[in-house]
Amino acid sequence: MSVIVWWLVTVVLVAVHSASARVVELDWEVEYKFWWPDCKEGIVMAINGQFPGPTIDAVAGDIVIIHLTNKLSTEGVVIHWHGIRQRGTPWSDGAAGVTQCPINPGETFTYNFTVDKPGTHFYHGHYGMQRSAGLYGMMIVRSPKEKLRYDGEFNLLLSDWWHQSTHSQELALSSSPMRWIGEPQSLLINGRGQFNCSQAAYLSNEGKRQCTFRKNDQCAPETLRVRPNKVYRLRIASTTALASLNLAVEGHKLEVVEADGNYVKPFTVDDIDIYSGETYSVLLRTHSFPTKKHFISVGVRGRKPNTTQALTVLSYIDAPESARPSLPPPVTPRWDDYNRSISFSNKFFAAKGYPPPPEKSDEQLYLLNTQNLIDGHTKWAINNVSLSVTATPYIGAIRYGLNTLSYLKSPAKELVESYDITKPPVNPTTTKSSGIYKFPMGIVVDVILQNANVLKGKISEIHPWHLHGHDFWVLGYGDGKFRPGVDEKKYNLKNPPLRNTVALYPFGWTALRFVTDNPGVWFFHCHIEPHLHMGMGVVFAEGVDRIAKMDIPDEVLGCGLTREWLMNRGRH
Ligand code: C2O
Ligand code: CU
Repeated sequence: MSVIVWWLVTVVLVAVHSASARVVELDWEVEYKFWWPDCKEGIVMAINGQFPGPTIDAVAGDIVIIHLTNKLSTEGVVIHWHGIRQRGTPWSDGAAGVTQCPINPGETFTYNFTVDKPGTHFYHGHYGMQRSAGLYGMMIVRSPKEKLRYDGEFNLLLSDWWHQSTHSQELALSSSPMRWIGEPQSLLINGRGQFNCSQAAYLSNEGKRQCTFRKNDQCAPETLRVRPNKVYRLRIASTTALASLNLAVEGHKLEVVEADGNYVKPFTVDDIDIYSGETYSVLLRTHSFPTKKHFISVGVRGRKPNTTQALTVLSYIDAPESARPSLPPPVTPRWDDYNRSISFSNKFFAAKGYPPPPEKSDEQLYLLNTQNLIDGHTKWAINNVSLSVTATPYIGAIRYGLNTLSYLKSPAKELVESYDITKPPVNPTTTKSSGIYKFPMGIVVDVILQNANVLKGKISEIHPWHLHGHDFWVLGYGDGKFRPGVDEKKYNLKNPPLRNTVALYPFGWTALRFVTDNPGVWFFHCHIEPHLHMGMGVVFAEGVDRIAKMDIPDEVLGCGLTREWLMNRGRH
């Protein structure tokens, strides 16, 4: 084929492609509102007056444009599109201090990105602890040729809720001595929970007041109305600040088919575990008896629970309005049965059609998770570095070469051989820093997350780690300290699932692999909000030389050193 013909073919293909891409354009305003998320009045961060924020419904290939106006009077804001890889638009990732400056009160910032792949996702605030304050919503990207067959679908966005304000929580966590925020007062399903009453009270002897909802109560659960003999897709996302959850539907099995926007080899279970940052699609087959109601329960796992289950109802279409579920809600499995949790994680394999990961990695990064004291403040640290995001967004500092300070100094990449993960940390050298790791383009990176004992007691916690800008393969989980040269042999290199969030279990390790094929600066952190606030994260700068040539919109860089840099060149 001649060059000219090639050129013509390319032009036509590009034209066809862009003709089919829809644009989903939205105007959003973020503001505080009084709300009753759990039947008790509190303050939420609402979008266009709604809590949770509006659901984004798009088709793979669409361009999403969101004009976000900050109507908070005294604080900045950003929104992160959790699960969207932001290929070619890393400045639209919405991570404050990493990919952009917070949007100032009164200002409007436009996010513009392509949703390149179908999946169940969500979005949330990513500045301070604004996710805990209720800044979140669902984001569905549909496939133009969906291969799953189902008759209807429901979204279930799970979160946890405190009566203490998030400002007060932030202060409590960074005080010396640290004041822990404790377990949430309520769990919410689509922003709705019940604190001072119980939906199941009439079935149990828990002695709690039975709920009576008035019409339009903000805490009244949304009933899932279904027809008999049908298949429903439940799209479930967890944006909890702290809680690890388990969801079950009384009398029904769940077939897991999607995880974090990737199809998985289907498997059927009675209940699912879901960690903060994870999303799932499960298929639920309805019975042929059309007259009943069944409880859907969401309870806490992984930490000693002190929060009642969140409940909502699956109601067959013929069930009388006044009918109640005839059986009590499913009991949440024991919180500390970690073997059960790990065996659920081990049920995941990529669906047919996904190519296997590269056989070997070019780099291994070992990340030791510890809790430490720095000048009397309790912090989380990775390889003895507690993350503190600086005022200049990393992406801008790299773009304009403002790396003079600590910016391009990376923490260690190896595990200290003598480190005993079963004992409280000694780590006299823990510091706060920008925690940045740099990778060239086109290499295969293994990350081995290593858990350890916390500061006091014989305790190790679950940490769900989330990577921006990528899906990664989960190669395996193990107990104890990772043994290089031995434990790699246990990796699943045949059909590991692709995810963007993965759990690190107590006293164990988790190994994942990804390819550096997306130039940008990507957050990698524990999705537990207080843990991230206390420094539990790192930053991956991918393709530094490519970032240095990127056409980054000036609007994302109106703060810190980049603001000065642009001002000196008359660009602000
Ligand atoms: Cu949903 Cu950086 O997180
Ligand atoms: Cu954590």
